[in-house]
Amino acid sequence: MNDRVSRAIAIIGGTGPAGAGLALRWATAGETVIVGSRDADRAQQAAETIQKRVGPNARVSGMENSAACAASDLLVLTVPFAGQAELLKQLKPAMRAGSVLIDATVPLAASVGGRASRTLGVWQGSAAQQTAELVPKGVAVVAAFQNLSAELLNGDKDMDCDVIVCSDDPNATQVAMELAAKIAGVRTIDGGKLENARIVEQITALLIGLNIRHKGHGGIRVTGLPDNAYKTGSVLR
Ligand SMILES: NC(=O)c1ccc[n+]([C@@H]2O[C@H](COP(=O)([O-])OP(=O)(O)OC[C@H]3O[C@@H](n4cnc5c(N)ncnc54)[C@H](OP(=O)(O)O)[C@@H]3O)[C@@H](O)[C@H]2O)c1
Repeated sequence: MNDRVSRAIAIIGGTGPAGAGLALRWATAGETVIVGSRDADRAQQAAETIQKRVGPNARVSGMENSAACAASDLLVLTVPFAGQAELLKQLKPAMRAGSVLIDATVPLAASVGGRASRTLGVWQGSAAQQTAELVPKGVAVVAAFQNLSAELLNGDKDMDCDVIVCSDDPNATQVAMELAAKIAGVRTIDGGKLENARIVEQITALLIGLNIRHKGHGGIRVTGLPDNAYKTGSVLR
């Protein structure tokens, strides 16, 4: 397997707005992307749509979720919270030790019929911490991308926001920060331990409430940290 293939980004649940938007941005940045879905045909259709938008040089394919997991050691999870645990249990046999799994799931009450501006209590503390309990030993879990607007990710303009990355594995934090910095207009910040995901996930519910109130697509910017706390594409490339 060559280096490019081994670094493919497999987006589990990549047919929805959040996963497809990330796929679009990473394909635009020249990364190899695998769009995952419960249905292989739906995955391929989503991949073709992205391919058409990015152009003939884009490296995007579509696979059923477990095939996507088996094909890469760099996984991004973008499914509704209500389906997260069951899907991870199904995918467990396909995940390899040494993989990094970046979780963008937000436990929105909307995923079980409640309001999008409210979150559900998660016993483990956050959706990402629940993921960490369910993946095989040796898979490092990172929480990131929960505060990015899918609407803006799927648009044509550069993003204008920060991505806070939380993990208990410093190497996995670096991997996720590199991926975040490949999205034009994103600055990324090491947000510390995975337990901080509970705070970052809650911010999404606040942003959704603000978007409803003010009819926009809000993101976050953290100000006042030293310059070296912020990583951007130009620093990491
Ligand atoms: N939308 C945003 O702006 C945004 C921003 C940041 C984070 N997020 C978070 O990212 C995640 C995905 O958001 P989204 O808006 O893209 O969600 P979505 O459209 O509701 O779901 C994404 C994909 O997940 C798959 N899926 C749906 N239900 C599933 C289930 N029960 N089990 C397994 N797979 C299922 C579907 O793909 P297939 O049917 O093809 O399998 C669907 O296309 C959510 O946790 C959300 O909170 C969203």
